[in-house]
Amino acid sequence: SIAFLNGTFLPLEEARISPLDRGFLFADGVYEVIPYYNGISFGIEEHLSRLQRSLAEIRIPLSQTIEEWASLLNDLVAKNGGGDLSVYLQITRGAYETRNHAFPPEIKPTIFAMVSPIASPLAADATKAKGISAITAPDIRWSRCDIKAISLLPNILLKQQAADAGAQETILVRDNFITECTSANVFAVKNGTIYTPVNDAQNLGGITRDIIIGLALEHQMPFQEIAMTVEFLEDADEIWVSSSTREVVPVIALNGRVVGDGKPGMLWKVMAEHYQTNKK
Ligand code: PDD
Repeated sequence: SIAFLNGTFLPLEEARISPLDRGFLFADGVYEVIPYYNGISFGIEEHLSRLQRSLAEIRIPLSQTIEEWASLLNDLVAKNGGGDLSVYLQITRGAYETRNHAFPPEIKPTIFAMVSPIASPLAADATKAKGISAITAPDIRWSRCDIKAISLLPNILLKQQAADAGAQETILVRDNFITECTSANVFAVKNGTIYTPVNDAQNLGGITRDIIIGLALEHQMPFQEIAMTVEFLEDADEIWVSSSTREVVPVIALNGRVVGDGKPGMLWKVMAEHYQTNKK
């Protein structure tokens, strides 16, 4: 595939980054994952304004506007022939001759983007309809999970914990409250109302989460943001996880126990349909 690195489009396998890059040495950078369906972006302005916020929060100074980022990514997708793709965009503070934690005085950020295939909506629906299993685990991450940082070691360990338990996702718990998943947000349905944890510094403000909330409001589905306890989640009729690459997926087992009747829930089906319609 064709990638983008510091102003140049090139075959991905030819992209070279210095080992002195602070992304490599310190995970000093931020990223976004943006879905494209049929070559057309979905939610790109929201993703790019979150990117601008992440860059500002970690103080990487760049002058690109949202329109400039969007046109760069649209070009990248076009060069890759369009289709259903997810674009990965990563910006690190850059490479510097000496390793020092503090920001170097003069440094040029490294801008990298690549594409990967996204399961076609239909194929994705078939898998999603089966639902996934999840476990809960203590949220061992830092206290700025609102920044989409590339430092994902805790997320990796927590996701592997799910894999080791034969599950597909880990739902994270901080002080008995649900924050989110390792790379997705969480929803719970109880007595016909859709709930999701409040968005604060303990979780990422997911773009898919926002889209789902918007759809719930638009279609008069009862919805509420709450401080969600583990007990509340365990007692839910339905659990969903949401992200740009997975859209909205039903969780049918939690810690080895069935959720609801062990099948994708009724409100999940309604929401998944609204989501598919909204994408077009
Ligand atoms: N992850 N929470 C975390 C920790 C995430 O990493 C993600 C996305 C989300 C969902 O956000 P959105 O709906 O904007 O994709 C929530 C991306 C997809 C990833 O790391 O691959």
